[in-house]
Amino acid sequence: MMLPILLLVLPVLSPALAWIPVEDWESGNVTTSVGDSGQCVCLVYVPDTTFPADRVQHMQQVSKDLILEVELQMDKMVSYQGKLEIYLKELTELTVRVAMLQSSGDNYIKLDFELLRIELREFDALVSQLRDSLNSSSPLFDSLYTESYDKSNLNVIRFEFAKLQKKLEECQKEQDSFKPDIGNCNHTGIMSISKPMVVQVNAHLNGGYQYGGWGKDSKPVRGYESMYFYGAYSTPHVYDFYLYSDYEKLILRSEFKRHHLPDGWEGTGNNYIVHGNTIYYQHNTPFGMTKLNLTSSKYDSRVIPAASQRFSYRYADNQNLDFAADENGLWVMYASEESMGKIVLAKLDEKSFGIADEWNTGAFKQLAGNAFMACGVMYATRSVDLNTEEIFYAFDTKTREEKQLNIRFQKFQEKYTNLDYNPTEQKLYMYNNGYYVSYNVKFNRE
Ligand SMILES: *[C@@H]1O[C@H](CO)[C@@H](O)[C@H](O)[C@H]1NC(C)=O
Ligand SMILES: *[C@@H]1O[C@H](CO)[C@@H](O)[C@H](O)[C@H]1NC(C)=O
Ligand SMILES: *[C@@H]1O[C@H](CO)[C@@H](O)[C@H](O)[C@H]1NC(C)=O
Ligand SMILES: *[C@@H]1O[C@H](CO)[C@@H](O)[C@H](O)[C@H]1NC(C)=O
Repeated sequence: MMLPILLLVLPVLSPALAWIPVEDWESGNVTTSVGDSGQCVCLVYVPDTTFPADRVQHMQQVSKDLILEVELQMDKMVSYQGKLEIYLKELTELTVRVAMLQSSGDNYIKLDFELLRIELREFDALVSQLRDSLNSSSPLFDSLYTESYDKSNLNVIRFEFAKLQKKLEECQKEQDSFKPDIGNCNHTGIMSISKPMVVQVNAHLNGGYQYGGWGKDSKPVRGYESMYFYGAYSTPHVYDFYLYSDYEKLILRSEFKRHHLPDGWEGTGNNYIVHGNTIYYQHNTPFGMTKLNLTSSKYDSRVIPAASQRFSYRYADNQNLDFAADENGLWVMYASEESMGKIVLAKLDEKSFGIADEWNTGAFKQLAGNAFMACGVMYATRSVDLNTEEIFYAFDTKTREEKQLNIRFQKFQEKYTNLDYNPTEQKLYMYNNGYYVSYNVKFNRE
């Protein structure tokens, strides 16, 4: 028995019917004609078997699901594509920043570098995540992805990453090669000074506070190894010292202690240092040297009879006593009438706060920008031009030999009021016209 079963009205050919296997049709026969309203009528006769209506229905459902699935995956793809575009933009920015850090050599802020590393790590994780989610999708999506999406975009990201990571590793290695050999004075003196690391403007955020100083304790007591100190004002007078527990606190301008110098204990000149949790600074009146013990908050002072108030360094007034500390201990530099304005170098005894030894150098104080000590050698600087300073003179206390040098280094601003070496890091700290600046010191190891 043959039954006319299906009336098909073309051209509405549902994709579902395309899925009905061909053999189901072959055994029947088909007649076609044109209907009343001009439509195409297709009459199908199939053999005496039940038409698989349930299968057609099932196939229609599968088809619907598939369409939904495709739409879903397309949506996902669009959102991934959006994310990828954002990541690629970020990657470009990161690449630019790495390039900047690289081209500037030493002249980068460590904090920034660390942040960048963290960002890169996060970015890497994001991309991996994205790739995993792309890959773990359904087989259907996989094939769509293969056909319609340019996979090479992801490969570009991986490739860029590998490059970035390699660059960062190289950068780290270069940094390590500069690793100072702390406390080792088996060298023939300073070889070079790095580019300036400009941290930021002073904690008062006041460009007018041109007179000041900053740095770290050159012989920290336990628990205060990360401490920073700072002081500044709009004149050479010294009224306050601020202490920060670490670098971050310094940046955040969040001091844990402010020492406001009491009446009669005000300082001047800004060539102070912190050594053994004690601030050594020039006393304003009477003219002398003062120490403020930060542990006991006690003050003490001494007069250096020979020291003259007539001679200051070139960039500021009142810089008559310049304190310094190096691997060998505590020092003070001054000029006198007897030395005819040349710098006299004195070794201080920490306990008695008295002068233990003295050397006459050949450096005229008024020609010098500043002076500092490193491994028992006094180095004096002078101006070359607005942005360049040079260590032009060295005096070795061990051999009493003096040397003319021309070790040049960059300044951020022309004038500075405080320059000191810190032996715990082999760094120079400079208070550069209101800005915190530091340098790495490279020694000549033969
Ligand atoms: C088509 O249908 C007619 C009428 O039922 C039948 O005689 C004929 O054999 C069929 N042809 C085929 C190829 O099945
Ligand atoms: C996706 O995963 C399969 C194994 O599950 C792997 O063979 C294939 O390389 C992966 N594709 C991509 C683009 O990572
Ligand atoms: C100092 O350095 C030189 C050259 O590197 C080396 O020969 C010498 O043994 C070192 N001296 C000391 C005391 O470490
Ligand atoms: C500072 O004071 C503490 C506590 O009284 C003392 O142990 C230390 O020796 C003093 N340091 C100096 C440099 O005077």
